[in-house]
Amino acid sequence: MNSTHPAISAQLDEALAVVRQRSALTPALGIVAGSGLGAIGSLVQDAVAIPYGEIPHMYAPTVVGHAGTLLLGTLEGLPVAILSGRVHAYEGHAMHEVVFGVRLLARLGAPRVLLTNAAGGVQPWLAPGSLCRIVDHINLSGQNPLIGPNPSELGPRFPDMSTGYCPELGGAIAQAAATAGVPLFAGVYAAMSGPSYETPAEIRMLRVLGASLVGMSTVSECIALNHMGVRVGGISVVSNYAAGVSAAPLDHSEVAEVANEAGPRLLAIIRTLAGQLAAAGI
Ligand code: HPA
Repeated sequence: MNSTHPAISAQLDEALAVVRQRSALTPALGIVAGSGLGAIGSLVQDAVAIPYGEIPHMYAPTVVGHAGTLLLGTLEGLPVAILSGRVHAYEGHAMHEVVFGVRLLARLGAPRVLLTNAAGGVQPWLAPGSLCRIVDHINLSGQNPLIGPNPSELGPRFPDMSTGYCPELGGAIAQAAATAGVPLFAGVYAAMSGPSYETPAEIRMLRVLGASLVGMSTVSECIALNHMGVRVGGISVVSNYAAGVSAAPLDHSEVAEVANEAGPRLLAIIRTLAGQLAAAGI
């Protein structure tokens, strides 16, 4: 099965044309707002909100806690484009559908994108409610959005992933967290396909491999963005101890609840980051 759709460039052109009828904004920062970050929309000034359903080739999320709106506006003086809600491969989407939104952010001109998500804490020091910057990932999802013919106008056949999470952007995120007074850990994110949560044995394996976080999103977006030359940053909200780290069974409504509780702290980091980027004239 091909993951890169042969007509991807034409599809992006169609989507871009629809967005451009509503907004001429060129984002300095793209943001993917995962679980718990729904409130970000209320902070965006002069916002144009476009439901995914009105954008060709975009799919509405089916998961509770994921909205499905593209927002364009300014955050702390910085032009931003926000994907509020994402679709996942486990919802039955092909990889090119999963990464279509972030490719659209790239097409809108975003030179950098911050990916956020809710993740399980693989390490015992990552208690529920912690925030953790993603410094690298391990792709165990069995999927890659670049499988298939390579549309060379989008990027190279074999993209380098050695700075998949941009160190400079990561430094700016860490600095923003410090300025905002919000504790922020740093760790490696392991991607699993889901939708079943992992077994305790799988989590022990991930710990041996060096992962601190586990989740079912983000890595495909990171790969597609690197393909297009976009710098990537990532922050996880630790919504639960991963399986076996504590005795408690995993439950999605608790995952969503903890992500919501941590949302304001994540928002504080993002606002500070946006303000610092705006002040630096980026
Ligand atoms: N595992 C995988 N994905 C997740 C988890 C988890 O424990 N928590 C939130 N997303």
